[in-house]
Amino acid sequence: MSRLRRGWLIAGMLAGAAMTATAAGAADEPAAVLKYRQNTMDALGGHMGALAAVAKGDVTFTDDVAVNAEAIHGLSQNLARLFPAGSGKDAGKSASLPAIWEKPAEFEQAVKVFQEQSAKLVEVAKGGDQAAIAAQIGALGKDGCGGCHQNFREKS
Ligand code: HEC
Repeated sequence: MSRLRRGWLIAGMLAGAAMTATAAGAADEPAAVLKYRQNTMDALGGHMGALAAVAKGDVTFTDDVAVNAEAIHGLSQNLARLFPAGSGKDAGKSASLPAIWEKPAEFEQAVKVFQEQSAKLVEVAKGGDQAAIAAQIGALGKDGCGGCHQNFREKS
């Protein structure tokens, strides 16, 4: 390989690395996190809707309870990072209330309750007691999702 060609090759590799670095630097922008948060919330809504149908007896797919419960509990673990400062109305169309950033201790507590309630559903689901499972699905919806929406999401 000529010195000239090798020079161009290295220059090209460096340019590629620089582009990757720029792309990484642009990630996790507030508007992108807002969109990601709403998609994650919609996913949670899907899982809860499926669980509610089982709890009400509309469908008999009781073996899906553990799968939905695990998914909700998994997503609950990093929920707080979906609310960086500046990702509320400043970042786009959002129903997040300023209280999220004004009362961080209360918000963290709401996340914690959600994590605990979803962990409990994972446990109860293993037991197979359908009445206890239905009761815990209700508690997760009311205290977990509802507990946070009550104080930190705009009423629609
Ligand atoms: C710790 C707080 C918190 C918890 C817990 C929580 N949410 Fe939310 N949720 C929010 C906030 C805040 C918004 C508004 C997001 C925005 O628009 O910025 C929201 C929005 C939503 C939305 C609308 C999303 C959209 O597309 O605009 C749905 C659906 C939803 N949540 C479902 C759930 C369900 C179901 C659960 C429980 C399994 C849950 N959430 C748990 C805070 C929470």
